[in-house]
Amino acid sequence: MAEIVVTDGMAPEAIELLQKAGHVVTLKHISEADLLGGKLSNYEGIIVRSATKLTGEIIEASEGLKVIARAGVGVDNIDIEVAGRRGIPVINAPNSSTQSVVELTIGHLLSSVRYLPRSDRGLRNGRWMKKELKGTELRGKRLGLIGFGRIAQGVANVAKALGMEIHTYDPYLPNKVAKMFDAYVHKSVDSLFKTCTHVSIHCNLTPETYHLVNEKRISLMPGKVGNIVCGNHIVNCARGGIVDESAVLQSLENGNLASAALDVFEIEPVPENYDLVNHENFHGTPHIGAATLEAQSRVGLDTANNVIKFFKNKKLESIVNQKFLNS
Ligand code: MLT
Repeated sequence: MAEIVVTDGMAPEAIELLQKAGHVVTLKHISEADLLGGKLSNYEGIIVRSATKLTGEIIEASEGLKVIARAGVGVDNIDIEVAGRRGIPVINAPNSSTQSVVELTIGHLLSSVRYLPRSDRGLRNGRWMKKELKGTELRGKRLGLIGFGRIAQGVANVAKALGMEIHTYDPYLPNKVAKMFDAYVHKSVDSLFKTCTHVSIHCNLTPETYHLVNEKRISLMPGKVGNIVCGNHIVNCARGGIVDESAVLQSLENGNLASAALDVFEIEPVPENYDLVNHENFHGTPHIGAATLEAQSRVGLDTANNVIKFFKNKKLESIVNQKFLNS
């Protein structure tokens, strides 16, 4: 059976599953220097979350490695092309955390329009800001979803139940899916920004989506619906780097944004005394979209089951680098 290393932690029930299948599981963080020095050659499988960065150089140095599993969705910390060229499949767990990220996104949207973080900070500082913190409802507002995959669809369902109008920009979206959600499909990102007062990000980080949310696009947002001046709001629970954080700070300062809520940042953890996180109309969370008991259990079990399948030579699910394998 295989030697598998888990470098960023995983739910205990998932470790147990791997061990019951006969695998030898080592739980340990490996430094970048050791990874570059070929430490992974001792293992046939590695399971990572986002902390371990598997660059092309590291993968090249890992001679015995046969499979890379990402216990989660995003694979931007793994050079999937180099892995593929070396015949190493990279697998992920794309569905396991959907509901948790949907719920966090809705939480951020509600927190934005009802000033929950500011209200709480005020109370802690002895301030009763009942008059200042007049919010707006989500009902009747236009929610722009950039990317319309599983998570955006879950957000759309809840937002629709709250009475929001759903807009999306997703160049890969089949029309019939948009119809199922009654979503208005925009042909350009700018058109979505011109129309929506609330924008939530649900796409991958790629060279095309890097800083897709920038100052110019934010300045297109209408700030009101009919005679209700609700301001403009941005939420990102997808990936850091899609939103240009200095543009967000600038837009909070000049009033083009009424609020910004980020769960993901270009640099994680965020630097100390980071101006954006100190702005009173900003609120954030430390990349906790998938950090629920339920999601972590599902992520771990789905990943472990897929790794077990690999070593039994069974058909793998969710291979993200299929196009590079044996290329
Ligand atoms: C994911 O890609 O699965 C989430 O962002 C969670 C994580 O990276 O831990």
